[in-house]
Amino acid sequence: MALTTPHRLHISQILGDPKAGESVEVKGWVRSKSAMGGLVFATLRDGTGSIQVSAKGGVTPEASMEAIRGVTRESAVSVIGVVKLDSRAPGGVEVSVRGFEVVSLAQTWPITEAAAKSASYLYDVRHLSIRSRKVISAMKIRSEVVGACFDYMRESGFTLISAPSFVQAAVEGGSTLFPVEYFGKKVYLSQSAQFYEEASLAALEKVWIYQPAFRAEKSRTPKHLTEFWMVEAEQAFADQSDNMRLQEGLLAFVAGRVAEKRKEELKILGRTIFPPSVPFDRISYDEVRDFAEKQGLPFEWGEDVPTEVERLISLAHDQPFFITDYPLAARSFYHMTYADRPKVTKSADLIAPEGFGELATGGQRIASYEMLMERIKSQELPPEGFGWYLDLRKYGMPEHAGFGMGVERVTRWLGGLKHIRAASLFPRTTTRVSP
Ligand code: 4AD
Ligand code: MG
Repeated sequence: MALTTPHRLHISQILGDPKAGESVEVKGWVRSKSAMGGLVFATLRDGTGSIQVSAKGGVTPEASMEAIRGVTRESAVSVIGVVKLDSRAPGGVEVSVRGFEVVSLAQTWPITEAAAKSASYLYDVRHLSIRSRKVISAMKIRSEVVGACFDYMRESGFTLISAPSFVQAAVEGGSTLFPVEYFGKKVYLSQSAQFYEEASLAALEKVWIYQPAFRAEKSRTPKHLTEFWMVEAEQAFADQSDNMRLQEGLLAFVAGRVAEKRKEELKILGRTIFPPSVPFDRISYDEVRDFAEKQGLPFEWGEDVPTEVERLISLAHDQPFFITDYPLAARSFYHMTYADRPKVTKSADLIAPEGFGELATGGQRIASYEMLMERIKSQELPPEGFGWYLDLRKYGMPEHAGFGMGVERVTRWLGGLKHIRAASLFPRTTTRVSP
């Protein structure tokens, strides 16, 4: 471009502090374009926001007029212009174009208004449809959720660890394992890093992890993905009460951060959130059974809380809450039970309100070798499959507890998203592994 190039500004910098008359360079993608007489308006989007640019014969040089007239939706462009305050422009600010360069011209955008009505088509072309305001907003919220987890866990003195994704043991039962061929041997994709966190305790005492988890969930529900990201934490010299305090502190912090920093995105999603205050309510499994019975949906003691009951009790709340004290029969083998109630675990699910349901599951683990071995045998699990996990109990294993919280579940709740796949940039479900 023949013009002297001013410093590139991101759109949020211009909108956040618009200086009338300032020369700016903006780079981004054309979201939309319209022409009216001698005027051409385009909405540009970069990674930080969108802004209107306007070109006008006589003000905008002729070559740039031609370039903006010929530009297509979703083309990448570079614009030089002057900031104008104009109440008719969205956000009250526009850039009056002095130079318009098409960096990469887009072909005719395939996602027509009619095509966009089909959710399944939008996921077929997810590599393109992610440019929508709603998807962008959901991803900004997800990023805020994750960032807030990093801040909170670091502040709370937890060390971030990593764990393998190729594993040999089922943490959450054999039925949802994904087998992988590993040099002639069958291994699995990790369902949860919990056992590796437990192994890290004697070295680091308080650990957390943020990594993908894989579940061959056959159920097609609005809350299940086959690959998702989990925030998990584990602490030594801690019991289930400490564990629940950590979870409620974390979730309240995350929700507060999103409410504060992602107002624009929440508005685009039509979502209002009221960050919860701690402590959260603690409702026992037995109380949930009473609730279910009153709703005409009784279930046997020992069964997991049925999905519909979880949904109804979640709908009856406007703040997150815990369901505590699940029967052992509804929990994985490693759960610690009460000394005076051997069939009841020191565990809880953290439930989101408004029908969104489970966000996290946590509990206190068995610390004693003998007790764990007995549990493994009584559940007819193969002790050799849990060699090193058992071994940990021989070399200084104190009382300890932890939890796992699904990042897409939390994003879905905070963003008010109907389906969990909307909380993932490239979701993996039973029926989708592309794009
Ligand atoms: O309840 P889950 O299965 O618990 C565990 O994996 C424990 N080992 C975690 C621990 O204590 N360290 O999974 C934990 C959370 C769930 O509460 C849910 O938020 C999420 O992970 N989750 C899923 N999210 C999306 N799709 C799925 N298929 C999920 N399965 C679990
Ligand atoms: Mg669970």
